[in-house]
Amino acid sequence: MTALEDYLRQLDTLAAEATSAFQSATTPEQLEEARVAYLGARQGKLKAIQKGMGQLERADRPEAGKKLNEVKRRIESAFQAAKEALGTAAAAPATRTRFDPTLPGDRPRLGHVHPITQTIEVLKEIMGRLGFSVAEGPEIEDEWHNFEALNIPAAHPARDPLENFYLATAERQADGPLLLRSQTSTVQIRVMEATPPPVRIISLGRVYRPDTADATHYPLFHQMEGLLVDRHVTMADLKSVLRMFATSYLGEDVHVRFRPSFFPFTEPSVEADFWWNDEWVEFGGAGMVDPHVLQAVGYDPEAVSGFAFGLGVERLCMRRHQITDIREFYRNDVRFLRQF
Ligand code: PHE
Repeated sequence: MTALEDYLRQLDTLAAEATSAFQSATTPEQLEEARVAYLGARQGKLKAIQKGMGQLERADRPEAGKKLNEVKRRIESAFQAAKEALGTAAAAPATRTRFDPTLPGDRPRLGHVHPITQTIEVLKEIMGRLGFSVAEGPEIEDEWHNFEALNIPAAHPARDPLENFYLATAERQADGPLLLRSQTSTVQIRVMEATPPPVRIISLGRVYRPDTADATHYPLFHQMEGLLVDRHVTMADLKSVLRMFATSYLGEDVHVRFRPSFFPFTEPSVEADFWWNDEWVEFGGAGMVDPHVLQAVGYDPEAVSGFAFGLGVERLCMRRHQITDIREFYRNDVRFLRQF
């Protein structure tokens, strides 16, 4: 082997050794030690070999010098690679364990109350100020509370199985079929059955009808039912209460208009419209409680009278917030929900 060949081989061996020394370093300190051992400017092994170049024939030195530079670059890049590998491995646990109490925290994303629930809270608040307390009833009802006691007889079209969500046969009780309530007027009956007059309640909750969903219909929606029964209650009381309610809710002096209508459980019956944004908007039905209904719950129609109303909660919320599609409430899209 010539002296040149021997020299070149020493360089290759050094490169291999240095690379494996860098790779086996497990701490920054060990890596630094290896760097000094191989690349150190004074005592480094590469430096030592470089010094040995003087022993070679003058003619061999250019080739040896070229090889030396190449090996130096290889060792340096092996060092960089090892340093980066050690850095990423070391950085991860370090940031996890290092706790800086002065940094702002990660704010968890909080949800908030659904716009319909918010509306319900506002409605309860307003009606509470008018002396109405909150009553509740079940969403699964029998025909007595959803129809019969409300003066809706068996042949009435509102009882058509296709107009209602009747429960499957297996779910039926001995007392008769059950259905998802189609109106909150059921709660009128439940309250009057349980309490002697006077009563002054509202009830807010879900009702179900097999409607095809579009911008203004959805098979599930919410109603606010109101019921006031006492001595000498008149339609003027109904109109005053609705007007005070609408003025509070819509935030300005709202006019209320009654249009003649029909409901089996009120007589007379009206559609209640509020003058809002320069137009009449229908918000629900109302009327004086039909004497048959008072009788059905054991009240004396000669002694007491009352009014009832049923307003659409979605409609109230949509008007106030300029929401144009009822389906938005039930899509669960946070981009919509976040706005309220
Ligand atoms: N229950 C009626 C409906 O769902 C609304 C209503 C309630 C009408 C109370 C009169 C009195 O359409």
